Amino acid sequence: MGNVMIGNLIKYSKQLNNNDVFMNEALQMEKAASVGKRIRLFYPKYHVEECLAQIRECLEIGWTGNGFKTEQFEEVWIKYTGQNNALFLNSCSAALELALDVLKTEYGWDDGDEVITTPNTFVSTNHAILHNGLKPVFADIDDTNCLDPLDVERKMSQKTRAVLFVGIGGNAGRYLDIAKICMENGLKLILDASHMVGTKIRGEVAGREADAVCYSFQSVKNLTTADSGMLCFNKPELGKQARKKAWLGINQGTYERNSENAYRWNYDVEYIGYKYQGNSVMAAMALAQFQFLDQDNAIRDKVASYYDEKLAPYRNLAIPVRIPNDCKSSHHLYQILVDDRDRMIDRMNEAGIECGVHYVSNTRYSMYSYARGTCPRAEYVSDHVISLPIHAALTDSEIQYIINTLIGILKEE
Ligand SMILES: Cc1ncc(COP(=O)(O)O)c(C=O)c1O
Repeated sequence: MGNVMIGNLIKYSKQLNNNDVFMNEALQMEKAASVGKRIRLFYPKYHVEECLAQIRECLEIGWTGNGFKTEQFEEVWIKYTGQNNALFLNSCSAALELALDVLKTEYGWDDGDEVITTPNTFVSTNHAILHNGLKPVFADIDDTNCLDPLDVERKMSQKTRAVLFVGIGGNAGRYLDIAKICMENGLKLILDASHMVGTKIRGEVAGREADAVCYSFQSVKNLTTADSGMLCFNKPELGKQARKKAWLGINQGTYERNSENAYRWNYDVEYIGYKYQGNSVMAAMALAQFQFLDQDNAIRDKVASYYDEKLAPYRNLAIPVRIPNDCKSSHHLYQILVDDRDRMIDRMNEAGIECGVHYVSNTRYSMYSYARGTCPRAEYVSDHVISLPIHAALTDSEIQYIINTLIGILKEE
């Protein structure tokens, strides 16, 4: 919708006098158009023709549900990650819930057993613990904005069963130290790799040390579908349990029952499961988008290096540490810490640059307020962190403009 047309609509609606519905529609379109002019914090880069070609196959053979493309994408993912199994789901939130459900069943954890987790994450991470009747115990974050191994050790108790690590923004932080702690103490390790699609640890796709790894392909992630996720277990038999639980506990998939000569209608129900499966339309998009993952992540890497270089001299700003050699980040986020965060966001917004906050410490939310004050650095970061725009569609001139604007504001401080 062009601006001239929107202008005409507004003029026309004013002539109509108090036609509120029409006026609202016109104003909404004007707003949408102006949003288009802003530099977006996230901007999913869809490889449209490739996505459409993959989706077309689903429509032509008449299979959009679970199976078909989901199986193809699972195979691609196994090869890419080096994991020995993969389960395509409707989200990473579902993956996290299932991961804990399966581990709890398999290892006989009791209700109220504890999982050590980070406060600086999207609430899906911690809700998954509560949904499973377990208790999130918050450990603080360190200078990487990820879990601090020292505080994880401090927060361990007789009831600790697992650690849930989030690679915030694609940063692996001190994940390898945490993996070691888990191994030495008989704790399970779950990796929330929502932001880590493309992250490499010592040259390998992140996550091999974990008992379960959960990925997000939600609408702004590095590998964008619209909404979907993946769950990989290091033990294939746990992957099999998860597959049944993701399909209401049913022991055979519909595609599997359908793909022989006859439709086999009989099955058993072994668990109370969920309807968490992913579908073939999302998997079709994932297959198409996957081909460009490395290329798109290379652009993010370039943007991040540019930010790193230009922002390094400014002392009134801190960039979370990435441990050299250990981590090649996917750069899902580019985070900085500044003194006056709210003012910085307002000023950037005025300049047409969207910024985000990832995240408010979950201990600030009513649900998790029992842990308020237990993670001082997480609360500090929660008040000072900003995410700058980073995505594969940023142009060189936009990056330059963001940096110039930011530096201008920093110099005023
Ligand atoms: C750290 C983290 N964990 C989990 C999730 C949940 O992912 P999904 O939206 O695929 O359920 C997100 C999504 O934003 C996230 O950022």
